Amino acid sequence: MKTVCLALFYLFVVTNKAKVFHACDLYYELKLLGMDPFKGFYSEQYVCTADYSSRLDTLYYENTRGIPRYGIFQLSGLEWCDNGRHKSQNKCNTSCDNFLDDSVIDDALCVKMVVESTMDMSAWPVFKKYCTKEVTFRYFRGCLFGKARQTRQLSKLMMNPAAEDRSKLVPS
Ligand SMILES: *[C@@H]1O[C@H](CO)[C@@H](O)[C@H](O)[C@H]1NC(C)=O
Repeated sequence: MKTVCLALFYLFVVTNKAKVFHACDLYYELKLLGMDPFKGFYSEQYVCTADYSSRLDTLYYENTRGIPRYGIFQLSGLEWCDNGRHKSQNKCNTSCDNFLDDSVIDDALCVKMVVESTMDMSAWPVFKKYCTKEVTFRYFRGCLFGKARQTRQLSKLMMNPAAEDRSKLVPS
């Protein structure tokens, strides 16, 4: 039964919302969301961290050693969000499903809370190994010089900034 439910759940998500980010799109979205830099870490470093965590697949789910992890930043369903099945601290006060849809806004807000809580990137072991400032140039080099693709969200925000509650996106 559990398998069937999971299969149905993924079918629902896949048919409606699957998305694999292009690194450049994510780079500019995170920049727009106030993460370039945020707590000393640059947008390309966050993109790198997401890439090594999920290959930028918004539907990415993994359960390692009993910890369910969600979305491009693989946020823990025991600590940061509520998946309805586990007891969770739910520090980002949100459903884990919100980390699997094609909007990166909730993910980014929660990542900010994670980074703020530790003041470093230790929540992502891949960061130290692969995403130091020296090695992340390649994550935005290709995005400069007019190659940037704008996502729907990004264009919407740029065309009509008032359409979105900017203060919600970029907490002070
Ligand atoms: C958590 O989210 C719910 C619903 O989105 C909201 O009503 C509530 O005020 C939030 N709680 C906190 C502590 O932010």
